[in-house]
Amino acid sequence: VEQTYIMIKPDGVQRGLVGEILSRFEKKGFKLTGLKLFQCPKELAEDLHCSLVSCYVFLFFVLGFATLEPRPEGLSETTSLPPRGSGKVCEHYKDLQSKPFFPKLIDYITSGPVVCMGWEGVGVVASARKLIGATNPLNAEPGTIRGDLAVQTGRNVVHGSDSPDNGKREIGLWFKEGELCAWTAVQEPWLVE
Ligand code: GTP
Ligand code: MG
Repeated sequence: VEQTYIMIKPDGVQRGLVGEILSRFEKKGFKLTGLKLFQCPKELAEDLHCSLVSCYVFLFFVLGFATLEPRPEGLSETTSLPPRGSGKVCEHYKDLQSKPFFPKLIDYITSGPVVCMGWEGVGVVASARKLIGATNPLNAEPGTIRGDLAVQTGRNVVHGSDSPDNGKREIGLWFKEGELCAWTAVQEPWLVE
């Protein structure tokens, strides 16, 4: 079954919207598989940013001066990922690293505690994105979380994974192994035929 990573951003926590946001996914019929309040340390964010930069510099030299050896069996690119559950926000937003707003985004996400959630269900990734609404809350439809509860892109209260692969990747980034629960919801036969 599909999994998605939903995160209530620091503004959602500060504004007392945790219950409201969580209940929208719950009422829809998705199953909560992980839940925690987490302060992403700024140092972690910066550490990773630095290590990525040094990684690029290193790779530049390696690729420039050495012949390319085939990658040894069993050594995938995931070996360079941070440890499971480290909540490294730069890794989470790695696709946005070249954007001018990236430093502001990292400051925002590390400015206070976030609520990390794993949700499971049929079509949960796309459906959660619909419940959340457009990135810019001013363009988000009324009835969506951002449409009802936010006004600015830089304070858009909630995150949702954009693909099933990213759902898995992000759950792995923010949760450790023992923090997730596989369980059977009694309502399941009333939701899925
Ligand atoms: P997420 O669910 O948080 O990933 O949002 P999204 O998928 O709707 O948008 P995207 O992945 O493109 O951007 C990730 C986050 O970066 C957004 O939710 C915003 O918090 C932030 N962001 C995106 N564009 C801007 C921008 O132009 N300015 C600022 N300040 N933040 C931005
Ligand atoms: Mg996104």
